Amino acid sequence: MDVNGRHYRTIWVKKGDSKVIQIIDQRKLPHEFVIVDLKTVDDFNSAIKDMLVRGAPLIGATAAYGIYVAALDDDSDASLKKAAEKLISSRPTAIDLKWAVEKQLAALKNSKNRIKTAFETANKIAEDYVEMCRLIGIHGVGIIEAISKKKKGAAVNILTHCNAGWLATVDYGTATAPIYEAFNRKIDIHVWVDETRPWNQGAKLTAWELGKHGVPSTLIADNAGGHLMQHGMVDMCIVGSDRTTRTGDVANKIGTYLKALAAKDNNIPFYVALPSSTFDWKIKDGVKDIQIEERGSDEVKYIEGLHEGKKRKVLIAPEETNVKNYSFDVTPARLVTGLITERGVCRANEKSILNLFPEKK
Ligand code: MRU
Repeated sequence: MDVNGRHYRTIWVKKGDSKVIQIIDQRKLPHEFVIVDLKTVDDFNSAIKDMLVRGAPLIGATAAYGIYVAALDDDSDASLKKAAEKLISSRPTAIDLKWAVEKQLAALKNSKNRIKTAFETANKIAEDYVEMCRLIGIHGVGIIEAISKKKKGAAVNILTHCNAGWLATVDYGTATAPIYEAFNRKIDIHVWVDETRPWNQGAKLTAWELGKHGVPSTLIADNAGGHLMQHGMVDMCIVGSDRTTRTGDVANKIGTYLKALAAKDNNIPFYVALPSSTFDWKIKDGVKDIQIEERGSDEVKYIEGLHEGKKRKVLIAPEETNVKNYSFDVTPARLVTGLITERGVCRANEKSILNLFPEKK
């Protein structure tokens, strides 16, 4: 997507030095736009763990390049296995991480030139993400179009949680792909952006990227969504996913479940947009089987922002208070109206999902 008139993806090979991978440091947005070089497996590991890159598909693409950089250093089985284990353990909920690393290892298994294969595979994974997200936009825009027609062209109000935008993928985003497509087709839309405590992905990232593209949006406190829904101010919700079971249970950023409950209570369609890499085909019960990442207490106790032009981190709770920081929750399939994938839209149940992905039967 464009940033101040220049096209960016979230990850790319450095021009003139294919041993270096570049990313946008998302911790610094929206106040600074900083590009960071990743050169070693440790760089990749910290970039994922410390959330310089985040969002399930981008984490996957980053890990794929991490394996390439590991191969540049030492392409033996033992070294690649060590790098793979390190990367996979960096964030436990987003399944794309494991998906991308396993894709790399499978490609490298019988390769005669592992560095070349790892480079090509990482590039392909990144390209495939771009195409999957583009197609999510094409399949999802019909839902927005239908609501717009029903409202006789009046603005369609869409609520989204966290950042499932282009910053969370390689380009286009998942939840935002239909939104950008609708905007580009000149459908009147407006997006309610949940701030998404504690890390504030909505306030920092979604508000920023929608604004850069010119999509009308309004930032709201996390607790406001239910009120807006009760008063007819939300026509649909679209969120992303970090892991989706073959039965349609969805793990996504903490707080997603509460929005889905409120949407159900108010008969508002609740869609989840995801590339097929985000399905965990092995599991059926999301609440029981998906590991929920817990992150550090500082994310909850402190808040970061600009004060008089300088970045500040401010304590907002008693220093000694106990904190629990669950990063994701699971929305059961019964609360999900539909899944928007690169192959089309389906219901959130095993039969409907497998109709789109028959090879997983
Ligand atoms: O902790 P994060 O910022 O990596 O969490 C991101 C989300 O929960 C997104 O909604 C999810 O990855 C879907 S992104 C396309």
